[in-house]
Amino acid sequence: MDPALVDRTITHLAGVDDASLPVRPMTIPGITGSLEARILSTDMRGSSSRLLRLRSGWGSEASGAFTAAVELFVFKGALQVGDCALETGDYLHVPQNRVVGGLRATEDGAALLMSSGPVRYDQFFAGRPADLEPSRPSGQDWVPVPEMPGRFMKRLGRGAVGDVWLGGAHQWDHGDGGWHSHPHHEECFVIDGEITLREQPYDADEPLTAGPGTYFFRPAGTPHSGPGSRCEDTALTFHRAFGDLHTDWDVVAADEPGDT
Ligand SMILES: [Fe+2]
Repeated sequence: MDPALVDRTITHLAGVDDASLPVRPMTIPGITGSLEARILSTDMRGSSSRLLRLRSGWGSEASGAFTAAVELFVFKGALQVGDCALETGDYLHVPQNRVVGGLRATEDGAALLMSSGPVRYDQFFAGRPADLEPSRPSGQDWVPVPEMPGRFMKRLGRGAVGDVWLGGAHQWDHGDGGWHSHPHHEECFVIDGEITLREQPYDADEPLTAGPGTYFFRPAGTPHSGPGSRCEDTALTFHRAFGDLHTDWDVVAADEPGDT
């Protein structure tokens, strides 16, 4: 299934392998040159999450404003946005209709680009400058998740639509622990390592094993991380909620396989 063709707000995307997705040239009007992009998910109304290959030199010297809220998570390479030098692991929210002093990929790399609507870079926008505050997880400690020993998080702050954080797993064995869900949509991208997850309703006997480049979009209320979920070594994941991060623990999932 091509996630570019379904509405993520009603379609649970589980274990999408980025390498399986078509590469689409992406041009942001107002910025010269195109990027290789893979559409990870969309609501079919212009809001989307994409995986971008950054090529050193891409960008614009001119200042301008994005016509939609833009969030960037750089997981490889480096990107300069106004005064902010984004390095690997950094996250930045660029508000809609706020002027930034240019942008430039300063190294080859890769980033997630999450936008609230169709994006243009308007070099003639006369508005207030953006107040840019990148989040740097490298300076933060991991906070354990008490309900799931072996799972950790680092908050990256509040993005355009909700909370954003990094997830960590280290020798996590959920065993026969329960399912949980969130009251808002959540997306998740595996950056490094390997994690095994059970997701409803993709609840086959075989859980999903997710490595780098694997993507999930869970519509609000989707039970996940069910029994059998685990991480033998370590895994690093990027998460973005469409509202406050709140977790409903031990939700009742649909019938377990083999229950009937
Ligand atoms: Fe979760």
